[in-house]
Amino acid sequence: MSHSPKFWAVVPAAGVGKRMNADRPKQYLPLAGKTVIEQTLTSLLRAEVFSAISVAISAEDPYWPELAIAKHSQVVTAPGGRERADSVLSGLMVLGGQAEERDWVLVHDAARPCLTSHDIHRLINTLMDDPVGGILALPSHDTLKDVQSQTIFGTLDRSHVWRALTPQMFRYGMLRAALQAAAGNPAVTDEASALELQGWQPKIVEGRPDNIKITRPEDLPLAQFYLQQAQWGEQA
Ligand code: CTP
Ligand code: MG
Repeated sequence: MSHSPKFWAVVPAAGVGKRMNADRPKQYLPLAGKTVIEQTLTSLLRAEVFSAISVAISAEDPYWPELAIAKHSQVVTAPGGRERADSVLSGLMVLGGQAEERDWVLVHDAARPCLTSHDIHRLINTLMDDPVGGILALPSHDTLKDVQSQTIFGTLDRSHVWRALTPQMFRYGMLRAALQAAAGNPAVTDEASALELQGWQPKIVEGRPDNIKITRPEDLPLAQFYLQQAQWGEQA
């Protein structure tokens, strides 16, 4: 008997936020009345599609247990790993008893708090019948240069270049196998690259440009602006 696959979310949140250079990991910095990670998890909960959200947290993290959202009935905690891919695999393993091989998993960075329900549903609706799955991405608008030692060696063909965002949506079993096969490979910086190494060809779905990743200090006021814009949009 076959039934429709469920949807699960995995949120890697075990990074230290080195480039942010703050007094704590960037996911715990204040943003529009909450912390960054609370904004991110709220954006996932609001979509009302996930059976559970698995959040990978570092063993040395004193901030997470203090947040009310850590005890939310749909939120489960997984141990973080050394690299982002290790944290994602750990988040998948914690869902092992419940998720089926062909269920869908959406992996979303804790550091992307401006995700809209619109983008989540667009990704799901576009890829639900796809054999592999895919990712939110944005075309590159800037002219791209091939540079070594601050010298330009050429201009890249921009029409083939997209920026990978999250969520990235794949089947539970296929994603776990691809991440296990890719263990320790530094080239695997997102889920799609792990599947690509297995010979799969993930799809891209164009996302919204406000789905930014908080990376450096100047990204926080920009994220606050986007979140406020979204709130006004809801009220209007
Ligand atoms: N992440 C994780 N486990 C790691 C490394 C990163 O779960 N070992 C998570 C981060 O918490 C973040 C996401 O992966 O939500 C994207 O990573 P990135 O933006 O690079 O965050 P950091 O690694 O924390 O930042 P930096 O690279 O500046 O140190
Ligand atoms: Mg990092």
